[in-house]
Amino acid sequence: MRHNPVMAKDLAFTCSSCGATHSKWSGRCEACGAWNSIVEEQPLSAAPTSKSMGTKRGRTLPLTDLATLEAAPPRTEAGVAELDRVLGGGLVAASAILVGGDPGIGKSTLLLQAAARFARNGLKVIYVTGEESTAQVQMRARRLGLDQSPVRLAAETNLRDILTTLETEVPDLVIIDSIQTMWADTVDSAPGSVSQVRAAAHELVTFAKRRGIAVILVGHVTKEGAIAGPRVVEHMVDCVLYFEGERGHQFRILRAVKNRFGPADEIGVFEMTGKGLAEVRNPSALFLSERGTPAPGSVVFAGIEGTRPLLCEIQALVAPAPQGQARRSVVGWDGGRLNMILAVLEARCGISFAGLDVYLNVAGGLRISEPAADLAVACALVSARQDAALPETCVIFGEISLSGALRPVVQTENRLKEAQKLGFTSAILPILPKRGAGAGLDLREMRDLADVVAALFGLSPEAPEET
Ligand code: TYD
Ligand code: MG
Repeated sequence: MRHNPVMAKDLAFTCSSCGATHSKWSGRCEACGAWNSIVEEQPLSAAPTSKSMGTKRGRTLPLTDLATLEAAPPRTEAGVAELDRVLGGGLVAASAILVGGDPGIGKSTLLLQAAARFARNGLKVIYVTGEESTAQVQMRARRLGLDQSPVRLAAETNLRDILTTLETEVPDLVIIDSIQTMWADTVDSAPGSVSQVRAAAHELVTFAKRRGIAVILVGHVTKEGAIAGPRVVEHMVDCVLYFEGERGHQFRILRAVKNRFGPADEIGVFEMTGKGLAEVRNPSALFLSERGTPAPGSVVFAGIEGTRPLLCEIQALVAPAPQGQARRSVVGWDGGRLNMILAVLEARCGISFAGLDVYLNVAGGLRISEPAADLAVACALVSARQDAALPETCVIFGEISLSGALRPVVQTENRLKEAQKLGFTSAILPILPKRGAGAGLDLREMRDLADVVAALFGLSPEAPEET
């Protein structure tokens, strides 16, 4: 362990994976269970602070200072609606943003395109690459048709050199691709290690804030789904975006999981093309475009992502399990939630999946986390098990409680409007708390799951059929 001259009581130990603090070092974080993630930290003393977020050093301000309230943070739009919406309405000056995603998912492409857009809209942009040579980035820019863009480019990994560049050139926006390749010569561990990533992110963010530079950090995601290195980078920035998608699919989704300047959970949908990422203005149509004739196990779910309705297809497949434990396999949804739905179907509707393998998939590589998908999932499962297709023009949504009762969900009206816009004629949903929504659609409001199963498949819980 590094020698530290500070007295023991001044030391703090922080888990670089979950950010929990501990009073002493240990090999395993008690909070999140990660091994070897606890690092020693020297807490900042109060006196020589240089960090300023808008107050004079050591001073306070009235909470309702009209001058600051009226001056909303200046924003610059990229002019790409899918990106601007995820940022909460454009890029906020001097903000810090982390963009995470699997290697090869398209982060560098997205950010180079964004850099060119912001540069075209008047920002001075520096793109720092630590992973590729300048020639490689220039070639990519040519392929994307961006080679006339005024974006400045640097291939650099030494933090000190990068800060010097920023000091002399003072851009409005700097993009660091990626944070895992940056290293500070004050920290004696390898680039990509937890302490290097922490130090580099901290230096860059505080420096940029002080100089009024917006900074975008690119971070690779590990197999476990965390941004490689410290989760604490997420705490250092104003906005955390994930760039997701399934390999082999052309859709890419930029998702805000934290945003100090706009709604979280907002998504932007892009399509990969030979000329880079193209924005998708009507994602529902795109996500449903691959749907063929309605097959058993296929259900259209009317979902909400952020502030926007999004229709997508949920597919289930049920097959006899060969021997031993039946499989439960989920792509794009929560596995625990699937087990809950299966349990409710068994307990409240008398429909058992014992001895059956269950596969559940959200089409198009989308990931859904809303409980409103419960009812659509349950219907897909029963439809697959009974080998009975549902009507093609019907959307389904609603949350299921453990009692089997259906709970109303948020933004019902938006969901129904989107369904109508895309040509659907009926909806199966929980009982509406108030009248008026979904005029023009045939609404089948249901009280609980057993009613739905009885109405759609003619199965009644009183007489569970033999299997
Ligand atoms: P890249 O942006 O390098 O991914 P990351 O920075 O996340 O590792 O993209 C990976 C590959 O995909 C690269 O070879 C370019 C290709 N690609 C396209 O051809 N079109 C696209 O729209 C995107 C996003 C990527
Ligand atoms: Mg890259």
